[in-house]
Amino acid sequence: MKKVLIYSVALAFLCSTGLVTMATAAVDKGPAEITLNPDGKKPALFPHAKHQEKIKCGECHHGKDAAGKKVAYVEGQKNEKCVTCHTGDMLKGKVKGKTAIQRAGHGNCLACHKDMAKKDAKLKKIKKCTTCHPKKKK
Ligand code: HEC
Ligand code: HEC
Ligand code: HEC
Ligand code: HEC
Repeated sequence: MKKVLIYSVALAFLCSTGLVTMATAAVDKGPAEITLNPDGKKPALFPHAKHQEKIKCGECHHGKDAAGKKVAYVEGQKNEKCVTCHTGDMLKGKVKGKTAIQRAGHGNCLACHKDMAKKDAKLKKIKKCTTCHPKKKK
């Protein structure tokens, strides 16, 4: 009995100092629904939360080292907007697209959607432009 009490007092102490809560702190998962490049020519709808259910963060998010090279996703890293890094000539010659944001978007989103459409007949539609770029209302 005495031991249990000591443990619970110890636990309460750890919680109050934040040592326990820190270990279980929730990662920032970002908004559930995102519209990418809302003022651009082709805004893209992105159901973020729906993708997070099945796809690992690192399929889309990554970092950059001091030399400018891509660094694979690390658990719990801070995730920034794609355009923080994808500007100018980024990915030119590697991915088709006129703008840096288009190359980042198509290199990630469209590439996977094409892949999935090929692998699963039920997902054939997801490679269509209108999946991500719904027709503008006139
Ligand atoms: C299918 C791709 C994809 C997956 C999977 C994904 N994200 Fe994202 N996430 C994005 C995109 C795209 C944005 C919007 C970036 C922008 O606005 O330029 C974003 C935005 C965010 C933001 C907000 C960044 C900001 O500054 O506005 C956070 C935080 C974030 N994601 C965390 C996560 C975490 C944590 C996971 C895993 C649990 C995850 N994401 C999984 C693609 C993804
Ligand atoms: C911290 C900087 C940074 C952020 C933020 C970032 N990227 Fe990147 N990304 C890079 C670097 C650096 C490369 C490597 C460029 C090269 O190979 O020329 C890269 C490469 C890529 C590639 C090429 C294929 C690959 O995986 O190597 C794609 C596609 C891509 N990023 C998409 C995205 C998307 C989508 C987002 C937002 C969810 C994003 N990036 C956010 C730095 C960043
Ligand atoms: C690694 C693969 C992968 C990546 C990367 C990815 N998606 Fe998807 N996306 C899917 C799959 C698979 C589905 C179909 C999900 C389903 O119907 O269950 C989907 C569905 C969607 C849908 C339709 C959702 C619905 O409710 O019908 C939209 C819109 C979408 N994705 C936009 C994007 C955008 C924008 C990006 C990039 C920021 C992106 N996706 C990145 C795999 C991916
Ligand atoms: C899986 C999602 C997805 C599909 C499918 C897709 N795109 Fe995109 N596209 C994006 C994302 C994400 C961006 C970058 C953010 C933005 O500008 O909307 C983008 C950007 C663009 C841009 C650049 C907009 C600008 O202002 O720089 C053009 C043009 C474009 N897409 C055309 C197309 C066309 C044409 C198709 C069909 C062949 C297509 N996209 C299919 C996700 C997609």
